[in-house]
Amino acid sequence: MPVTLFCPAKLNLYLAVTGRRADGFHDLVSVVAPLAFGDELEAERRAGGGAEARFTLACDAPGVPLDGTNLVLKAAQAFAAATGWDGAVHFRLQKRIPTGAGLGGGSSNAVAALRALDRLAGTALSAERLEALAAGLGSDCALFLRSGPVVMRGRGERVEDLPASAAARLRGRRVIVFKPSFGIATPWAYGRMVTRGADYVARDEAEAALARWRADATAPVAALLANNMQPAAFEKYVALPLLLARLRREFGVAALMSGSGSACFAVIDDPAPEPAIVACIRECWGEQAIVAATALA
Ligand code: C5P
Repeated sequence: MPVTLFCPAKLNLYLAVTGRRADGFHDLVSVVAPLAFGDELEAERRAGGGAEARFTLACDAPGVPLDGTNLVLKAAQAFAAATGWDGAVHFRLQKRIPTGAGLGGGSSNAVAALRALDRLAGTALSAERLEALAAGLGSDCALFLRSGPVVMRGRGERVEDLPASAAARLRGRRVIVFKPSFGIATPWAYGRMVTRGADYVARDEAEAALARWRADATAPVAALLANNMQPAAFEKYVALPLLLARLRREFGVAALMSGSGSACFAVIDDPAPEPAIVACIRECWGEQAIVAATALA
């Protein structure tokens, strides 16, 4: 029997990159929430081995790499190396999360692949082993082992659940996620931060903001949203700040970029203007923009 898993996208509701590390990565503090919007990954065991690749991937979306550079196949190789499992698996990916978006699509696919293989192989890996495997695949992977909003630290691999009361006010909240026809490569975005040098948030300031997120506060979520990767991206991709400013002005919504972009989101308190907001996004960014009206999971 194949295993089919949902791969949620994520939003960085709060992101403070605090500085560059000796290993070239950046330290960050982030509040991240999974979305009800995402991909679907099916994993099916098959006879294999020999000259044929043990792990193969098909995808319904054009342009998605199907070779060993895809995180699904990297995850499968890492799983096999860690467990010694020698089975063969074919993956089918239904792709809805755009790439180069800062929505964690590839990372979410990789974690779904680990979970699917854990089931197919009957290995029942501990949470710690899964976390270690996920962290080795990418900075954004570990968060997808959790089922709700999390706090991320380190380069992203240190993850803890947001306290239940703080998570409760996020879950189910409507958001509109929108990405222009172009993407932003994560290494480019971090590279621009290094060049600019002026955007880093002091660690104690980031921790103070985090304390406000964690507290059972009545502060509106809109007041807590922030992302200090925006200035580097906005300097080059001017279509982003122009649309965000228009959405704030015309609809009074809180709107910002997610992660390293280029996807942005608006937090919706009143569902009535949702169709008008979607129409405004399409008017500004054209039919090639991806727009999803969805909710925090
Ligand atoms: O870990 P991941 O593959 O997502 O990272 C892609 C690139 O983004 C890294 O090679 C690095 O240049 C940059 N990055 C960073 N600091 C992080 C996460 C990513 O500098 N915390």
